[in-house]
Amino acid sequence: MALRPILTFEHPVLREKAKKVSRVDTSIQRLIDDLTETMLDAPGAGLAANQIGVPLRVCVVKGDDNQIWGLVNPEIVKHDGVQVGYEGCLSYPGWVGEVARHETVVVKGRNRRGKEVRIKSTGFTARAFQHELDHLDGVLFIDRLTSLDTLRRVEELEAEEREAAAAAASG
Ligand code: NI
Repeated sequence: MALRPILTFEHPVLREKAKKVSRVDTSIQRLIDDLTETMLDAPGAGLAANQIGVPLRVCVVKGDDNQIWGLVNPEIVKHDGVQVGYEGCLSYPGWVGEVARHETVVVKGRNRRGKEVRIKSTGFTARAFQHELDHLDGVLFIDRLTSLDTLRRVEELEAEEREAAAAAASG
């Protein structure tokens, strides 16, 4: 495994549609390992291959239960409900914005052994899958903001949340 530099939004590879993987071989397994190590080090809840400069449809997502999914050619085959919340991106460091996503998604893809898998997720994990799949199509969360006004510094949102929690505790 190796840590790889994470590219930021101005890099053109992040705006390209990544290519389908035709065969899951050892190079793809190494790619999944590198994505996993780089995601955990960042730390982040997901990472797409084009974020480390590899324009292939491969991504990793860390679930709520800390399980890590490495997926090849992932696609959403079913979705349900809506969730609206803040999200950020390792390729857009320091900023978060409000994005509407499906509440539940079923993602189909191949795992590191080339076996077809279907993963059902909800809430934060479902948001992470949708965010990573967007990356593979060259889409960033800033393209999906409910409003540009919701784009803000991470520290600003955290301070606001602390104040809200304090107000709730005292009220
Ligand atoms: Ni991202």
